[in-house]
Amino acid sequence: MIPDSFIQELLHRVDIVDLIDTHVPLKKAGANYAACCPFHNEKSPSFTVSPTKQFYHCFGCGAHGSAISFLMEFSGLGFVDAVKDLAARAGLQVPEEAGRRSHEGPKLASLTDLMARAAKYYYEQLKHSPKAIEYLKGRGVSGEVAQKFGIGYAPDGWQNLGAAFEDYTRSELQTVGLVIQNEQGRLYDRFRDRVMFPIVNQKGEVIAFGGRVLGSGEPKYLNSPETPLFEKGREVFGLPQARTALREKNTVIVVEGYMDVVALAQHGVGNAVATLGTATTATHVQKLLRQVDRIVYCFDGDNAGRKAAWRALENSLDALPEQKSIGFVFLPETEDPDSFVRSHGKDAFERLIADALPLSEFMLRELASRCDMTSAEGRARLVSEAKPLLGRLQTPLLRLQLVKRLAEASGFSQQEVERLCDLRPVARPAPAKAPRKAPSVLRPLLRILMHKPELAKNLPLEALPLNTEEGRAVRTYCQVVRAAGDVVPAYPVLLERLRGSEDEEMLRDAAGELMQQPFDEAVIDEEFEGAVERLLEAGRKRDFAALQAKVSKLGVSGLSNEEKQQYLQALNGRRSEA
Ligand code: UTP
Ligand code: MN
Repeated sequence: MIPDSFIQELLHRVDIVDLIDTHVPLKKAGANYAACCPFHNEKSPSFTVSPTKQFYHCFGCGAHGSAISFLMEFSGLGFVDAVKDLAARAGLQVPEEAGRRSHEGPKLASLTDLMARAAKYYYEQLKHSPKAIEYLKGRGVSGEVAQKFGIGYAPDGWQNLGAAFEDYTRSELQTVGLVIQNEQGRLYDRFRDRVMFPIVNQKGEVIAFGGRVLGSGEPKYLNSPETPLFEKGREVFGLPQARTALREKNTVIVVEGYMDVVALAQHGVGNAVATLGTATTATHVQKLLRQVDRIVYCFDGDNAGRKAAWRALENSLDALPEQKSIGFVFLPETEDPDSFVRSHGKDAFERLIADALPLSEFMLRELASRCDMTSAEGRARLVSEAKPLLGRLQTPLLRLQLVKRLAEASGFSQQEVERLCDLRPVARPAPAKAPRKAPSVLRPLLRILMHKPELAKNLPLEALPLNTEEGRAVRTYCQVVRAAGDVVPAYPVLLERLRGSEDEEMLRDAAGELMQQPFDEAVIDEEFEGAVERLLEAGRKRDFAALQAKVSKLGVSGLSNEEKQQYLQALNGRRSEA
């Protein structure tokens, strides 16, 4: 856990305008700054950044948030990485987790420095190796694309890295997997006489390498081992290079090989990344779906490719949120994306991607191929094979689609399939009993409280209707304000404290609305009092309605003494109002 106080300090130190401006050039527009939204395609700028609120909001697609949210969305970073990145910009040190040993080995920053230096060295060496240049040329890689991916060459020989590092014996070189110690204690370079593909994380740091032999030899690709910097199942090759194309196409193509990514980029297909000789993991899927709405897996047309696709499917099921989609492309046998794009060209490849098999279709086909679909038993088996997979899907729409297809293929009715698979309607929180139809005062109240958080201290919490999402969100927000102590931070900071809570979305939406309809400072207190008054009135009406319901059921004698008094008071109040 990163302490709240640090988040507060951080958001205070970083200027969101500066931050966003380095990624998306901003133009002054009145009190705010504007640009074309980086999160959706548009021609006229509806993306607005407020320097006073330290918040951004897009009137087109509704994206909004703090500097931290921006980095998470724009660079696809997780929360902790986004905070670290911002902290580095601001020159702040992220406090260590409480209880963690402070001497856990070398600092990661210095490890990435070593990797950066090695990458630079390999990159330089490529220029001096005609045979490596020849190899890449032979595979159709231009100098420009080689540079884009930072492709290099590790020369033949045992201790070449000695030229890149003053101290070849320093243990960190082994920690990052560049140098190996043999049983006799002798140190030697892991990568020798190989074309080097640096694996770069989303922050632009080199965290590992893949090295390919020139020509034939075993292993064909040698990869960095897992190190403190590199965890295979989390990383993909080509992500930073794909960033612009990902945003443009809103789709990522996942392929198997380094050279597939490079060749596709060479032919103008920029939105491909490769898993690193491992199956696609749920972590991969999550990471990628943070940046785009669609994943298309494009695997070789052989048996191994199908197996890889099935693993990818299984690992995608849990991680697949609503509104996101997954497709599968199988290339003709003996082709991989590299050879395909080279012989058939970009357009043919992009047509394949556009015509990708939907997840439901692939799943069904694959399951059907394991059953004898000509017999009733076989068709029943299809349904039972599908059961565990269906159960993991969180998305009602996709599930419905699959149930329909299963019904068609098996001859059972849709209801029968659902029953056989023990499917209950996907659990959604039961919608709270719709409150009275009168427009809720809670939403404007929330905006007022965001504009001037101190006011939350004066709000009578007991007046909030807790059977509504809005009511609960207001309460949560007030609790955070109250917990903040004497100096209440601005709402972007408060919202950071609520990241991941169930009220987050509602509160963020309200913050977005606030940017659209700012309050006049002069009347904010009045607005607040008006809102509180309406809230209390709504509460009284609710109480009265409850009492009245009781009376009509049990008669006045069914009320407790206290309730009787309340009831009479309320009746009198109503009369005097009338
Ligand atoms: P492939 O064997 O399909 O090779 O491995 P490729 O990508 O087509 O390679 P080229 O075109 O011959 O250069 C696919 C991926 O599996 C991993 C690598 O990530 C590779 O890109 N792999 C393969 C290894 O890690 N080690 C190996 O020895 C082979
Ligand atoms: Mn290949």
